[in-house]
Parts: sequence; structure tokens; C-alpha cells
Amino acid sequence: MTTVLRETTLQTLGLGTVLEMFENGHLPVSTGDLVDQVFGNSGSRGSLVVSGANGIVGAGKTMQLGSRLQPFDVKIVALDFPSAPDGIGRQYPGLVQAFGQEGADRIMRNIIRMNYDGANLPAELKDLNPRFLLEAIPEILEVKRAHYATFRSAFPDIEIRSVTSGFPSSELGVGIAHPAFPHEINKIWEIVEPEPSAITQLLWAMGLIPVPVADRWSFILDVLFCGITLAGSRYRQANNMPYWKIDKYARKLVGPNPFRAHDAIGTKGATFLTWSCLHHLSEKYGPLFTPTPDFVERKETGQSWYPPNHFRPLVDWPLDRDAYNAFRVWILGPLFQMASLMLHEMRGHLAHMNAIGELCAQFRSGIVALIRDFGPETVIATVEAYHGMHPEAAQGAWHPEAFEGMDSPEWQQLYVNAEHNGEVGVITLSRETYSWDVDHEMNRAIDWLKSEGIDKVIVTGDFHLSTQMVGADTSEFFPTLENFDAGYSITSRWSATGRRLNDEFATSVGFVNGKRCLGGILELLVHCHYLVSVDDAQLGWPEVTLPVVPGMEGCHWPIRKAGSEDWTKLLHLLMTGRPIKAGDAVGWLVDYAGSLDQALPMVWKLATGGDHGIARRRVEAGALRGVPNDLSGLPPADSPEMETARAAIMECVQAACGTDLSEALTVQAKLAAEFLTAPTCRKGVVGSEYTRTMAV
Ligand SMILES: NC(=O)c1ccc[n+]([C@@H]2O[C@H](COP(=O)([O-])OP(=O)(O)OC[C@H]3O[C@@H](n4cnc5c(N)ncnc54)[C@H](O)[C@@H]3O)[C@@H](O)[C@H]2O)c1
Repeated sequence: MTTVLRETTLQTLGLGTVLEMFENGHLPVSTGDLVDQVFGNSGSRGSLVVSGANGIVGAGKTMQLGSRLQPFDVKIVALDFPSAPDGIGRQYPGLVQAFGQEGADRIMRNIIRMNYDGANLPAELKDLNPRFLLEAIPEILEVKRAHYATFRSAFPDIEIRSVTSGFPSSELGVGIAHPAFPHEINKIWEIVEPEPSAITQLLWAMGLIPVPVADRWSFILDVLFCGITLAGSRYRQANNMPYWKIDKYARKLVGPNPFRAHDAIGTKGATFLTWSCLHHLSEKYGPLFTPTPDFVERKETGQSWYPPNHFRPLVDWPLDRDAYNAFRVWILGPLFQMASLMLHEMRGHLAHMNAIGELCAQFRSGIVALIRDFGPETVIATVEAYHGMHPEAAQGAWHPEAFEGMDSPEWQQLYVNAEHNGEVGVITLSRETYSWDVDHEMNRAIDWLKSEGIDKVIVTGDFHLSTQMVGADTSEFFPTLENFDAGYSITSRWSATGRRLNDEFATSVGFVNGKRCLGGILELLVHCHYLVSVDDAQLGWPEVTLPVVPGMEGCHWPIRKAGSEDWTKLLHLLMTGRPIKAGDAVGWLVDYAGSLDQALPMVWKLATGGDHGIARRRVEAGALRGVPNDLSGLPPADSPEMETARAAIMECVQAACGTDLSEALTVQAKLAAEFLTAPTCRKGVVGSEYTRTMAV
């Protein structure tokens, strides 16, 4: 029996818990079985029809699904009007880039394009035995309903999902699979169906991220995305600030630049979709969502939100403090109120609601984490202040009671969950980057397992929302550029969290299950007694390229665990920033690498003390002698900043390795934090990102 800290997001897909995967030694479902279920067995395979396949969504999804279904020889029928511009052709160069010419052609061979008039399906379609229709035609309710009727009369058993941005399943009469832009690469799909279907599980098995949401108008993503756009437009109405400038401050405040996003997606289509979502939301929930006159006008004219660049400098004066505070209320007030509605309606698992904003709408911190960070009083006061400026918004859709219960694990564990079976625990990370929120949640997860009497632990991704682990969230470094203490707080406390994995468990196993594990998260995982990885995962420390100095003990911990003959290899990783395949790092960075089917049971054996035959590498506690100071054969640095960073990393390596384990945490934390305040860091990725987003 698995005990969970809070519901595991995989459970919402009917896929059980992460712990059960390790216990069983395999994933809960196989792609091949699910392909058989959805499309029929090999030999009598049916096809996937994408209707509206030349559109923005249709073309992207034809590529994304076509490339994943090609190995199973599922034909994709790309259906559209003969007059539609060639959206699929436009995707081809990207396909070549991702899969090479030969791979791209192989995928395209399975994509069969068909034209029709919208009413009479092509006769040849029958021969391709359509089993699943992904409908991606325009956002007009009657047109979509008529389309389903056409398909159902020809193929009564066909499964249908709509990609609709806003219409609930109850209005359409089909399930929803609502994807996020950009469609060929974004993996998130909001799913509405009575219970998790084989189609949804197949999306998961193919490496995509289906996220069940409640059957409500505009689901979660479009409430957030359309909501922040509307908030910006209302601010414009009241203050006459140009849209590009509103974007600039919105990005500083929360992350997205919604008006730029509309222009990037395609102004006319995107503005129509946003207007449509807001229009229907306002009919259902009231004036909080009423589109501004500007929206109505632009959805007719298709006029872009950004003016030609040369107008910009004329009005680029900064907001003073009072004006910026008012801006915050205009933007955050409605967002918080909309979130109260979504919480009240229980539109999704809180980790889902939070992740959707981060993964699909550019929020630096998801809406739930943001609200948690502000606390209920401030959030409610912000909405009330907003109602002072826009009184009509108070007429409905305001549920302050939804912010109660923030102490619960559902609110407290948005990014990190834990499970155990009474003997072994699993800690799962559902965020690709490590942040203060993740760190706090990680510590709470460790505390919980310990309070449950668990002293064996596996630390890994969540097999759902995070498909890779890329390291520290660099936006957490913004305050550190000017403040040593802020940097030191990160480098010392995040390192201390890592040490808990070494010090507080009898056995700890880090497991890399995704495409890559880099930077801070690799530093975290090397603190585990064993590190296991799927063999093709990329592992490394790209810090030198940013540049920053690894500050979660990367400069000495892995060196203390490796034999002196392997030190040069570790130093190469640190000095070049180039990753290595896990399979090539066994014995000195990784303890075992294999296929997922091999690695899952191995992790379980290591965690449970089974017969695994792998020696536990000791962490040398004393000062190390002879760590090379000078590396030959390094490729030239990409920039003078990288050169400076190499010297700083080497200094940190020498100092942290040259002392004992008890001193080393502080030594490396100080040096890494000092580098964060240095001019070199300012000139790099972190500094320029800070200047672009925050110093406006
Ligand atoms: N644009 C986005 O980023 C986005 C995101 C999520 C969901 N959606 C949803 O996707 C759907 C399509 O939006 P889009 O932006 O891709 O629109 P689009 O205008 O780019 O594409 C629609 C395509 O459908 C074709 N079409 C129209 N009627 C058809 C019919 N009866 N049969 C077959 N093809 C037909 C058109 O020729 C066009 O190629 C909408 O429901 C929208 O809400 C859009």
C-alpha cells in the first residue's frame, strides 16, 4: 500500500503512483499496448484524423503526433479545405531539423493529406479506417458540432477529441484535448473526459503531458492567458499606457508578455480566440471577464498590439512607485480573483493549475505558488483594491474562501511530492528547475518521510510534469547580483538540503528518468548514496557557460566520491559545461545506467538492499590532495566571461576539496555567492536576463 503526502499527479491519469513503478519494475502502461487499444492491432491498424490540419494547431499536432506514432505505423490523415494555406509544408523544415532529412521523410510518408468541402467526407477515408479524430477547426460551436455529426454518421465508433480553447465538453458533446502553443513542441494538453481514457494514457506514454482539468468554460490555461491579457487591456483603458509597455511591466511582475504573445501566435486568430473565451466567460461569470472595447475592435480589424518600433522611446519613461503599485493591483487583482473562481470550481489538481501557468503562459511562478507566496490576506486585499478601481468586477466570480486551507499538503507541495510503502520512500520533483519553492517543498517532503519513520529514499522526477531536470531557476539569482547575502543564502541552504539526502537516510538513490539532468539538480542528486540514470540521459554542469560557479557542492562533492583517476573527467564537465551521456559516466559520476526497464528494478534493489552488486562509493571526508589545478586539452572558452568563470570554478574546486567536508559547504557557498555579485556574472545570461526583465 502506498501512502502519499498529497495525491500524485499520475494518479489523476489512472496511472498509479511513482513508487509503484519502482516496486513493479516497469511503467504502468506500454505505448505499444495503448496504440493497439486506440488504433487497433498491427495488421489492422486504423488511422488518426486531424481535421483543420493546415491550421496553427492542426499542423503542429500533425507533426508532434505523427513523429511519435510513426514507429507504430499509424497513418495520420491531415484533413482540411482545398483553399487552406499549406500549414503542414511550413512545418517541414522544423521536422528536418529535429529528425534529419531521412527521419522527416519517414514521418511525412505516414501523413496523408486530404481535401474536402466541409460536408462530404472523401470516399478514400474509409479505406484508412479512422479510429480517432482530433478536431482542430475554427472556434465556432455550431461548426464544430456539425463536424462531429458528419464524422459520426460515417464512422459511428470513432473517438473524438476537440482542441477547443474554450468550449466545455458538455457543450460540444465530445472530450477535450486542449493543447498549448507552440503546438509542435509544447507537450501540455488539458484533458476533459469522464475518466482517463486510453487516448490520454497514450499521450503520456509517448512523452507528452496530459493534464486532467474540470469541464468548465476555457479550462485553466485560457483563464490565465486571456485573463492577464484582459487585465493589461483594462489597465490601458484606465491609464492609456501603450501595450508594449504594459507587457514590459507585466513581465517584470509575473513573467508573461501577453500582447507580444498574441502578435507572435498571429494577431487576428489569437485575438479572436481570446475574445471568444472572454466573451463566453463573461456570459457565464459576469463583468470580471467582459472584453474591453479595444478587444472587440481588434478582433474585427486584426490590428497588431505592438506599434512599429520607432514609437517606443517617446513614451518609455519609468513608472514611479505609486504608479507601479497601482499597476500591480490592476494586473494581480483580476488574476487572483480568476484564480479564486478556478479554485472554487476545483478546476484541477493544484499542482496542475500551477504548472499550466509556468509551462504554457510564461509565468515565472505558477498562479497557485504566487498566491501561496503572498498569503491569503494580501491576496484578498489586492482583489478588494482592484474592486475599488473596477467595481463591476465584484458582481460575481469572487470566492475569497477559496484561499483557506493553504496549510494543507495540496497547497504546500506544488512541486515536490513524497510517497512511501512503510519502508521505502520516493521524493518526486515536478519542476524542471530548482527554486526556493522547490527547496522548501523538498525539505518538507524529507521531514514528512522522516516523521513517517522512512529511512530509505529514492529521489527522482515525477514521470509527468517534469520531463527533464535542467538545474537552478536562474531568476532566483536576480537578487543575488547585488546582494551577497541573497546569493549565500541560496548556495549554503540549497547545499544543506542536498546534504540531508546523504546524512539523514540509511540509503538514498537519485534516479534520472528524463532526457537530461543538469546543474543544480544534478548537484542535488549526487548527494544521494547512489545515482542511477537511463543511459541516454545527458548529465552535466553548464554553469560555466552562463557563467556562474556551481554552488550546490558540485565543485567538491562528486570529486570526493570519485577515484583520483577520474577527477580530470569531472573537472572537464565543470570547465566545459558540455554534458555527457549517463552511460559514459558509470563508475565516477553515475553508479548504474541502463534502459528504463533495467533501471527501475535496479533502483528498487538499491533502495531496498536487494542483491544489486554495486559498491557504495564513499564520500571522502578529509581534504583531498592532488586535485589537478591545470587541465590540458580544454577547448577554448566561448567568451572572456567563460574564461573568468573557469578560473573561479577552479578556485572553488581547489578551496572546497582542499578542506574537510564540514568546512567545505561554507567555503564553496561563499565563493559561488561572491561570483554572483561579480561583474562577469552581470555580463552573462543571468545579468542580461535581469536587465531585460527586472531593471525596467
Ligand atoms: N491558435 C492557438 O494557439 C490555439 C491554441 C489552443 C487551441 N486552439 C483551438 O484550435 C482550434 C483551431 O484554431 P487554430 O488557431 O488552429 O485556427 P486556424 O484558423 O489556424 O486553423 C483552422 C483550420 O481549420 C480548417 N477548417 C475550417 N473548417 C474546417 C472543416 N469543417 N473541416 C476541416 N478543416 C476545416 C481551416 O481551413 C484551417 O486550416 C480552435 O478551436 C482553437 O480554439 C487554438
